[in-house]
Amino acid sequence: MTTAAQEFSDGAAYERQMGRWSRKIGVQFLDWCGVAPGQKWLDVGCGNGAFTQEIIAGARPSQVLGVDPSPGQIEFARSRFGVSAATFEVGDAMKLPVADGNFDVAAMALAISFVPNPAEAVVEMKRTVRKGGMVATYMWDFAGGGLPLKPFVEMLKALGVEMKMPPHPEAAGRDALQTIWRAAGLSEIETTVLHTDIAFRDFDDFWDSCSASGPPFVSLAAFTAVQRAELKERGRAIFRTATDGSIAYKSFANAVKGLV
Ligand SMILES: C[S@@+](CC[C@H](N)C(=O)[O-])C[C@H]1O[C@@H](n2cnc3c(N)ncnc32)[C@H](O)[C@@H]1O
Repeated sequence: MTTAAQEFSDGAAYERQMGRWSRKIGVQFLDWCGVAPGQKWLDVGCGNGAFTQEIIAGARPSQVLGVDPSPGQIEFARSRFGVSAATFEVGDAMKLPVADGNFDVAAMALAISFVPNPAEAVVEMKRTVRKGGMVATYMWDFAGGGLPLKPFVEMLKALGVEMKMPPHPEAAGRDALQTIWRAAGLSEIETTVLHTDIAFRDFDDFWDSCSASGPPFVSLAAFTAVQRAELKERGRAIFRTATDGSIAYKSFANAVKGLV
């Protein structure tokens, strides 16, 4: 079985795939969180630092620590433009390498469904935040059809390829997030839905970026390069694009925030 660190082993590949959408939704999430400037942030499951960069630009923190189990993502995050205000460490959401009450905010961007035990991770995030601080997350709504990869996953299914799903897609539901936050003992819990437009230049852009990283990359890695090229052409034949060849649709994520 592949681990999350293997699925997301390449920070640059993730950037080609989800980086652009993850940033668009991250900006909305930060706005909704409404955290004052000058706070200390913990970015759990920071991946290649796409959201960390948004925290720095949008929330003007005093410090940010990004934690992710994938060394390849952390390496990319460290090299990312504009993250000199952040530090990064390899680590696990369920065993964060930080002291109790050390942060004003602990946030997890598009990662809760990938963590082996989401409820445990949220309790652990709460442990790292001071009294009155915030614990928050947002995740694509898998069950509700909000995942940007959904059309790609459905096309692969039509071609006979089942894509591996993250271990906890159900944790991304709006009610599920609320239940996890309540069970962790957080207060003043609020949820919202964040929407974004997804667009690809053409089918090549769609295929190449959707298959670059994460579960699609792992699922397609089981095929040879020749088989993957054949699958791509079969996909091109069945996938409906706009008349100019472009692809556009909408995706959405659920968000939750609560206070310690
Ligand atoms: C879809 S990526 C999101 C990355 C980044 N937060 C963003 O918004 O672009 C999911 C991330 O969850 C991370 N992840 C998986 N299991 C984890 C765990 N146990 N603890 C912390 N992060 C984990 C993966 O390594 C990956 O970087």
